[in-house]
Amino acid sequence: MSNGYWKDLQEKMEHWLDDALPEADVPQKSIFTAMRYSLMDGGKRIRPMLVLEFCRMCGGDAEVAAPFACAVEMIHTYSLIHDDLPCMDNSDLRRGRPSNHKVFGEASALLAGDGLLTAAFETMLSEQSIRRAGADRAARAAGILASAAGAYGMVGGQVLDLAAEGKQVSLEYLEAMDHRKTGALIIASAKMGCAVAGAEPDKLDAAERYASALGLAFQIQDDILDVTSTPEELGKTVGGDAENEKSTYVSLLGLDKAREQVALLTAQAKDALAVFGDQADALRELADSLASRAK
Ligand code: IPE
Ligand code: IPE
Ligand code: MG
Ligand code: MG
Ligand code: MG
Repeated sequence: MSNGYWKDLQEKMEHWLDDALPEADVPQKSIFTAMRYSLMDGGKRIRPMLVLEFCRMCGGDAEVAAPFACAVEMIHTYSLIHDDLPCMDNSDLRRGRPSNHKVFGEASALLAGDGLLTAAFETMLSEQSIRRAGADRAARAAGILASAAGAYGMVGGQVLDLAAEGKQVSLEYLEAMDHRKTGALIIASAKMGCAVAGAEPDKLDAAERYASALGLAFQIQDDILDVTSTPEELGKTVGGDAENEKSTYVSLLGLDKAREQVALLTAQAKDALAVFGDQADALRELADSLASRAK
């Protein structure tokens, strides 16, 4: 994403994340090194930027949304660390560097993931965060993230992903899987942004519809890039889906049909933003740029 608006938001996020998880001078400081290795390594920061952008569109303050934005990126990062483990996707490369377990070992990678999951809740439910957002909104937003991250959401999707390895599954199955493993955190991001700003139900509903279509398009594009990209460009392993006999939109429908789905879902996502008027232009652009992204 070269667009200056998103680049600025991305840079703000880097500072907020850096502040939210400092190196700690404690006997167990190695866990902070492992957590920061994966958190502070330049992911695209899509999810936290959705939190900030929906908060802004609903009239909220970026400083209030920041801990919630950090929290979703922490949970996303934990999901990537665990996703790369040998017992899951067995990927050695992530965000252009050796995966967490390649550097710190499997036990530390497991704990770094656990630490990040917990740090997400510490961050969004810190005294300062609750004071700024108000207890009611903070609890609401934290609840949205908790249910999206767990066994009904991302974790549930990862279960379906592993269960589908080496099998021919239906399109309905794939949609249910991707909706959970990737859609859930993306939808939660949009809804958290609305929740911390105290948005009306119609805006929350529009946010959910936008992010639901965006999240599915995002995973299908991820599956496409696993076939068409290179490790240098993508910064992570390519060809792993075929190697692990993953069920994806590409393996089921082929590249062309998968690309059609991305285009269709991107249009659906943009349509969902009507209630926000031209305030949502940046999010329309984001949907387009994610559909044609190369990493
Ligand atoms: C990768 O997510 C995992 C998926 C859910 C497809 P991203 O493509 O957002 O990864 P980063 O955060 O930019 O590294
Ligand atoms: C990951 O899907 C979804 C997560 C919840 C982490 P993938 O396994 O396709 O993600 P990448 O390609 O390794 O980033
Ligand atoms: Mg996976
Ligand atoms: Mg993977
Ligand atoms: Mg993938």
